[in-house]
Order: sequence, then structure tokens, then C-alpha cells
Amino acid sequence: MNLLSLLFVALSFILNTYCLEVSDINVAVVEYHPNFTKSQNEKSYEKIINSIKQPTDFIIFPESSLTRGEYLVVPPIHASPNCSTNKSDTLTHIACLAKSKNAYVAINIDERVDCKPNDSTCGPRGFLGYNTDVVFGRNGSVIARYRKWNLFGEFDKNITKTPDIITIETDKGKFGIFTCFDILFQTPALNLTRSGVKNFIYPSMWFSELPFLTALQAQQMWSYENDALLLSSGGNNIVVGSGGSGVFLGKYGALNQTIVPNIKKEEYLIITTKVPSNRTALKIKEDTVHETDEIARKIDHFFIKRDDLRGYTSELLNMTTGSVSREICHGNNPKLCCKFNVTLKFNKTRNDMDSYLYRFVAYSGVKTFVYNDGGVEVCGIIPCTNSSLDSCTRKFSSYDNITWPTTFESISITANFTNDETAKMQYPNTLLSSLRSIPPSQTRWEKRILGNQVERSFRLVKPQTRLLTFAIYGRDCSRDNFFSNPGVSINENKVYFLLVACSVFALLCRF
Ligand SMILES: *[C@@H]1O[C@H](CO)[C@@H](O)[C@H](O)[C@H]1NC(C)=O
Ligand SMILES: *[C@@H]1O[C@H](CO)[C@@H](O)[C@H](O)[C@H]1NC(C)=O
Ligand SMILES: *[C@@H]1O[C@H](CO)[C@@H](O)[C@H](O)[C@H]1NC(C)=O
Ligand SMILES: *[C@@H]1O[C@H](CO)[C@@H](O)[C@H](O)[C@H]1NC(C)=O
Ligand SMILES: *[C@@H]1O[C@H](CO)[C@@H](O)[C@H](O)[C@H]1NC(C)=O
Ligand SMILES: *[C@@H]1O[C@H](CO)[C@@H](O)[C@H](O)[C@H]1NC(C)=O
Ligand SMILES: *[C@@H]1O[C@H](CO)[C@@H](O)[C@H](O)[C@H]1NC(C)=O
Ligand SMILES: *[C@@H]1O[C@H](CO)[C@@H](O)[C@H](O)[C@H]1NC(C)=O
Ligand SMILES: *[C@@H]1O[C@H](CO)[C@@H](O)[C@H](O)[C@H]1NC(C)=O
Ligand SMILES: *[C@@H]1O[C@H](CO)[C@@H](O)[C@H](O)[C@H]1NC(C)=O
Ligand SMILES: *[C@@H]1O[C@H](CO)[C@@H](O)[C@H](O)[C@H]1NC(C)=O
Ligand SMILES: *[C@@H]1O[C@H](CO)[C@@H](O)[C@H](O)[C@H]1NC(C)=O
Repeated sequence: MNLLSLLFVALSFILNTYCLEVSDINVAVVEYHPNFTKSQNEKSYEKIINSIKQPTDFIIFPESSLTRGEYLVVPPIHASPNCSTNKSDTLTHIACLAKSKNAYVAINIDERVDCKPNDSTCGPRGFLGYNTDVVFGRNGSVIARYRKWNLFGEFDKNITKTPDIITIETDKGKFGIFTCFDILFQTPALNLTRSGVKNFIYPSMWFSELPFLTALQAQQMWSYENDALLLSSGGNNIVVGSGGSGVFLGKYGALNQTIVPNIKKEEYLIITTKVPSNRTALKIKEDTVHETDEIARKIDHFFIKRDDLRGYTSELLNMTTGSVSREICHGNNPKLCCKFNVTLKFNKTRNDMDSYLYRFVAYSGVKTFVYNDGGVEVCGIIPCTNSSLDSCTRKFSSYDNITWPTTFESISITANFTNDETAKMQYPNTLLSSLRSIPPSQTRWEKRILGNQVERSFRLVKPQTRLLTFAIYGRDCSRDNFFSNPGVSINENKVYFLLVACSVFALLCRF
């Protein structure tokens, strides 16, 4: 080696060590409608990766969209593939595609871990089965493996004895990883954010629910509150309400996002974006009212599950021009009191068309996620198709028949929560008719610690006409309960209110 090449090596080492932290990140997150079998999906994955022509650092695939119930053994961490032989097995094949693209590639599979012959804990099938994310490095080696901790039903899956809290060192910084339903829980997501991780890989197969938990709404609220980069790749199947991918950059909002375009024909849609390292002058492109309407019009047929609001305290907003202040409380252990200030303009000129009414709501209690219960603490303004509370979980069926006579000039919601960083979190939750969230630049999200209380305040600071939801969505994990034998305890009524789901439908509905 001559001096020049030594110098070059030294220089690139220095560049790698000191400069790459501040370089842009090129991302591709894939919204994909899975096919029936592993081999069909594998072919699509190959096509998708090969279709990405520009240099890309990360390619993320959705949950439950590759193996479809065929369990695979994951090679050990650092195992690098031999790409000169026949790539007969799926994981080597994808590893070699990652290598050929020189990109980090994240996928989600059904993983099998074989048991020792007489290990009775393994159950009758003789292996442990996990819902597992696998991340390949630029050279195709397996660099991380994460086994989903918060299963949504998924009775064919096991969980690990202790949670995987996985960080991935890349030449673009440190990344954490978690899967779908995990986003609503403290472990492992918050263990990672609390230790300072700022970038996340997030495969999902979400099932949107009104009015608080549609896909992009949940992703943006998580990213905004944690001021973290979230690379979200969603499995798409609009007839059951799944779909939603994007790149969310904390308090800056969505750099790019999509929910349910008509991707049946093409099978997939690749959302690309450059995450800039220098964020001083970063200006997110915000949808105009016209763009919001264009997006909304195309998703009339998108199936959305409905939350069960029967226990909520609520009050219909008086749709007249002016300001209102209200305090709405619910529950007693602890009692949640939500203070609302709203200024609106109301100008209805068409009575032959639909328009939303709105309700103030407050709730501190338990919500069913079908296969488990979860504590929630919510203060919100939600859209209703008529004056009944039950209608506040629906949208009108035809977007072209909706007018928007209400302009929310400003909204302010404040509430106190017990300051419990291990079990509680609160999120700024918004939804527009496009099923996207309000860009964070049009809101203020603030927090004041007052002894054992935390006062949260969420405000709308730019007038908005296409509003569906504006809320503080809190979780209280101390009230969570995963049913030990869910197969028996699900009742039909709860199934009707089928909530945010992950994965399990991917198995039930193999289409
Ligand atoms: C599913 O796979 C079959 C067989 O490979 C293929 O013909 C079909 O186009 C695929 N469908 C989708 C929606 O990808
Ligand atoms: C890769 O596989 C080929 C064909 O089996 C073999 O000749 C070669 O030695 C292997 N390379 C490595 C690094 O194992
Ligand atoms: C690769 O696979 C093809 C088709 O399955 C087979 O004909 C060929 O012999 C294999 N080559 C090697 C080196 O295994
Ligand atoms: C793993 O899951 C299978 C299928 O649900 C079950 O039979 C087995 O008992 C589980 N094993 C452990 C250790 O949880
Ligand atoms: C969003 O992704 C689409 C599809 O890849 C791409 O055409 C578009 O340029 C991206 N927009 C931004 C702002 O990155
Ligand atoms: C970041 O961008 C701002 C505004 O464009 C510019 O003034 C500043 O020099 C940039 N910083 C770096 C480190 O490039
Ligand atoms: C709504 O506001 C109008 C005008 O201020 C008032 O006359 C009416 O009583 C209010 N209705 C309710 C239910 O508060
Ligand atoms: C809400 O309105 C009341 C009465 O107009 C005012 O006293 C209070 O400061 C407002 N609160 C916020 C958070 O804007
Ligand atoms: C109400 O809307 C109509 C039709 O868009 C418009 O002509 C009128 O000026 C509006 N009135 C007010 C008070 O904004
Ligand atoms: C449009 O909205 C009006 C008012 O709610 C309703 O009476 C009518 O049936 C709707 N038309 C269609 C096509 O949905
Ligand atoms: C929160 O608690 C503090 C201290 O008790 C109180 O001053 C404040 O008004 C409360 N905020 C709300 C929104 O109730
Ligand atoms: C993760 O955080 C929770 C509290 O939010 C804590 O109970 C748990 O012990 C943590 N787990 C690990 C492995 O650090």
C-alpha cells in the first residue's frame, strides 16, 4: 500500500467517524399489498428493491408481508451471505439484494427458533415462533433482529422472556426498532427514546380506527411527542383498513406520507425522501386545502374501524360564530379534566350537503384493543355525522357531498395528568379529512411539570377548515391488561368494535 492510499484510507476513516453523523439520509419506505405466498412476495420484494434507482440508505418493508405464516430461521447477527451461490433461501436472497443496493434493508418475518428435543416449554409444534424484524446491513449481513413485544392477538406467536430493546449502529447514526402495535406501549419504544435514540425503523400492518388512531395520525403523534425520526412502512389492504406509510421527522412533521392510494394494480408504492441533516432552514411542504380535498376524495372507500366511545363524557359544540370555553371531566381515579377554548366561524350556505358537527370529549379509563385492554386518557374535539355520540366514529360516505362551513380559528386544550414517566404518555393527536395530521408548525404542544402533575397544552394556531380530530391522546400503561386466554374471552360485541389491529388479520385474511 503506498502512502497516497494510506492517506486516503485515513481520510475516509476520519470522514466516516466525524462527518457522516451530519449527512443527509435517503430513505425508501414501502407501502405494499402482500400476495398469498412467500415466494410471490419474495419476487415482489426483489422487484421493489431493483426498481429503486437512486442511492438509498434505508429501505423498509412492512410487517407480515413476506413469509405469510411460513417460519424462517434467522442467521446469527453478523453472518454475511454468500451471494455467489444460488440464493435459494429467502433471507439470503434479500440479504444479497441489500448488498447489491448497498442499503440497509429492514423486513418483518415469521421467525422460527427450534427447541431442544425434550424442551416442554416449546409447546406441541417444537419451536418458538416470533414476529421478527430483521435488518440487513449494506454488505448483506444481518445486523439486527427484533422480536415484537406487544402482540396483537397473534396466538401463533411467542414473546421473549425479556423484551428486546434493540439499537442499530449505522453510518447514518443510531436507530431503534419496534413493530406496529408496539407504538402504543412504553416497552420497548420509550426505553429507547429515554436512552436518547432519535431515529426509528417501524414496520407495521395497522388497522385504522376513528377518531384517534388512524395510521398516519398515530405515527405523527408518536414522532412529534418524541421528536424522533420515524421511518414507517405499512402493509396495505384497504378492505380491512390497513395502510399508511411515511417518514416523520419529529416536531417538523411528515416529510412524505401516504395512506391508501389505489395500489392494487401496482401492488406497491415506494415513498422516498431525503432526511436533511441540516434542519435549520427545513420547511416541510404543507398540503393546501385543495390538495387535502384531492387526497380525501380518493379514500372514500377506505374501511375504518370505529372506537367505542360509550363511556366518554361529551358535549356537542354549538356551531355558531364566536368563542367557547368548556371544562369537561371524566373518571375519578384519577379524574381527568379537560379545558377547551375554541374560536370558530360558522357560515353554512348549503343545506343540501353534509357537514360535520363536533363534540368535546373527555375520557379516563380503559379501552379494549380486543386482545387486551389499554388505559387511555383523552381530551379531544371529534367529528360527528349527526348529534349522537355514536356517530363520532364515522365519516360521511361521499366526500363530494361534504361542505366545510366551520373554520376553527383557534383551539386550545389543556389538562393535567399524573406525572408518571414510566407508565404514562400523552400525544398531540390531529386528523384532517385527508387522514393526514395537521403539520406541527400549525400547532403548539407544550408541557409544564407541576410537582407530581404534568400540565399539557395543545393549541391550533392556524385557522383550519378540514378538521376531523384535535386531541391530547394519553396512554396509561398501568391500566393495561393482556388477556391470558384471549381466544375464550373475546365476545362478539367487542369484535364488532374491532380496534387497532396488527398482524392477526394478515393471517386471517390472506388476500
Ligand atoms: C400474486 O402472485 C401471482 C403469482 O405470482 C401474480 O400473478 C399476481 O400478479 C400477484 N398479485 C399481486 C396483487 O401481487
Ligand atoms: C460461496 O459459494 C461458492 C459456491 O458454492 C463457493 O465456491 C465459495 O467458496 C463460497 N464463498 C464463501 C466466501 O464461502
Ligand atoms: C442453481 O439452481 C439451478 C436451478 O435450480 C440449478 O440448475 C443449478 O445447478 C444450481 N447451481 C448451483 C451452483 O447450485
Ligand atoms: C409458544 O406459542 C405456542 C403457540 O401459541 C404455544 O403453544 C407455546 O406454549 C408457546 N411457548 C411459550 C414458551 O410461550
Ligand atoms: C414522496 O415520495 C414520492 C414517491 O416516491 C416522490 O415522488 C416524491 O418526490 C416524494 N416527496 C418528497 C417531498 O420527498
Ligand atoms: C444550515 O442551514 C442554514 C440555513 O440554510 C445555514 O445558514 C447553515 O450554515 C447550515 N449549517 C450547516 C452546518 O451547513
Ligand atoms: C347556541 O348558541 C346560540 C347563539 O349564541 C344560542 O342561542 C343557543 O342557545 C346555543 N345553544 C346551545 C345548545 O347552547
Ligand atoms: C381560555 O379562555 C378563558 C376565558 O376566555 C381564559 O381565561 C383562558 O386563559 C383561556 N385559556 C387558554 C389556555 O387559552
Ligand atoms: C359565507 O359564505 C358565502 C359563500 O361562500 C360567502 O359569499 C359569504 O361572504 C360568507 N359570509 C361570511 C360572513 O363569511
Ligand atoms: C348529501 O347530503 C345531504 C344532506 O345531508 C343528504 O340529504 C343527501 O342524501 C346527500 N347525498 C348523497 C348523494 O350522499
Ligand atoms: C393543573 O394544575 C395546576 C396546579 O394544581 C393548576 O394551576 C392548573 O390550572 C391546572 N391546569 C388545568 C388545565 O387544569
Ligand atoms: C422499559 O421501561 C419500562 C418503564 O417504561 C420499565 O418498566 C422496564 O423495566 C424497562 N425495560 C427495560 C428492559 O429496560
